[in-house]
Amino acid sequence: MSKTNSATFSLINDATGEKFAMPVLDGSVGPSVIDVRRLYTQTGHFTYDPGYTSTGSCESALTYIDGDAGVLLHRGYRIEDLAEQSSFLEVAYLLLYGDLPNGGERDKFVHDITYHTMLHEQLINFYRGFRRDAHPMAIMCGVVGALSSFYHDSTDINDPHARMVASYRLIAKMPTIAAMAYKYSIGQPFNYPQNDLSFSENFLYMLFAVPAEQYEVNPVLAKAMDRLLILHADHEQNASTSTVRLAGSSGANPFACMAAGIASLWGPAHGGANEAVLNMLNEVGHKDNIGSYVKKAKDKDDPFRLMGFGHRVYKNYDPRAKVMMQSCHEVLEDLGVDDPLLELAMEFEKIAREDEYFIERNLYPNVDFYSGIILKAMGFPSDMFTVLFAVARTVGWIAQWKEMIEDPTQKIGRPRQLYTGPTERPYVPINNRK
Ligand code: ACO
Repeated sequence: MSKTNSATFSLINDATGEKFAMPVLDGSVGPSVIDVRRLYTQTGHFTYDPGYTSTGSCESALTYIDGDAGVLLHRGYRIEDLAEQSSFLEVAYLLLYGDLPNGGERDKFVHDITYHTMLHEQLINFYRGFRRDAHPMAIMCGVVGALSSFYHDSTDINDPHARMVASYRLIAKMPTIAAMAYKYSIGQPFNYPQNDLSFSENFLYMLFAVPAEQYEVNPVLAKAMDRLLILHADHEQNASTSTVRLAGSSGANPFACMAAGIASLWGPAHGGANEAVLNMLNEVGHKDNIGSYVKKAKDKDDPFRLMGFGHRVYKNYDPRAKVMMQSCHEVLEDLGVDDPLLELAMEFEKIAREDEYFIERNLYPNVDFYSGIILKAMGFPSDMFTVLFAVARTVGWIAQWKEMIEDPTQKIGRPRQLYTGPTERPYVPINNRK
């Protein structure tokens, strides 16, 4: 819970000399906020902050980022420690319930999630409505949105039990939905989940097993997948999470809210960046060409940006990118893959980090810079990269949605605007128009 600080901020209307005091609220760590909720009533003015660069939209106890120091904490735990020592489902529990589970709690949670992994059989017909060459994120938007029509019994957002069941269903079913989107796109049969496998093992099984052969899950790949899911599980009030919160603030059911989050994640400035990084590296092709791409990225008249570089919040190395780079080396070594794209990516990083333009603007590699190379080595086509991100981020979305619904101060999200269109004018009948 936030606390009201004894300090206030004053806003002075220079024309009239009127002075308005605004309270300051403190969180547990990080910058305090100026509470402007009564600003319009007091002054008749709104604040203006496109892109929300200085605006806190909610109170949250889930995730803390110190972008200057390059620190990411989930419920107080460092992402590096979670990635090294925890598991994705343990992190899911942590985000949902606030603390790491004890042994019994962990076993029960794993069991409950595992027994929600199957999809309603009728949903299989839904896939057949999509073209085979549909982008899997398009399938994800459609199928996840459709879940509310299959699981009516968990759409009452005012019932805590229904909220919990919907949360478990979403976390459990998302890998099944994602694997089916992949299988559909390559024309292979769907695999039903296997309850004797761990969350990440089962995900790999549903993605890569075929009925004609035995499938052995490679433990190095299962670990890399689990780590990738942990690294993407939550990230404060990013675009897709804010989209989920905004959709949910109207009382929309959680399945519909997740579909909104998936749509927002798809964009190349957000979750679509890992796909864009690989496309960029493929296009660059050779390290001799890096210079011309760096030049393009710096050119204000060219819309090109170095994909996988820069972040709204991190003005230092993204801590997830460090873990991802380490994971990338481990996976490539285990698979015996010598991918020239990794060398190219490292060279890109080196050059960009020595360049004045990138140094001045604090543009470091973000989590997406190395993830595409790992995923390619694991056998994923690039259009699946963002789908994996969506599977992981579902945990953050649902935990943030639940936190919002349970917040007694929650209101429908409704930003204001600075209107710059025409002022009122009379309607002109068509025959009188020029
Ligand atoms: N390449 C070249 N220049 C860049 C880049 C980049 N990747 N990112 C930012 N800049 C420049 C901008 O042109 C701007 O320069 P200016 O001050 O001279 O105008 C300055 O750095 C600040 O950039 P903004 O766009 O104001 O930063 P913002 O916080 O709005 O954008 C974003 C952050 C969208 C992530 C941006 O860095 C970007 O487009 N990166 C590439 C896409 C990407 O990797 N996205 C993944 C983000 S992480 C995630 O979603 C998991």
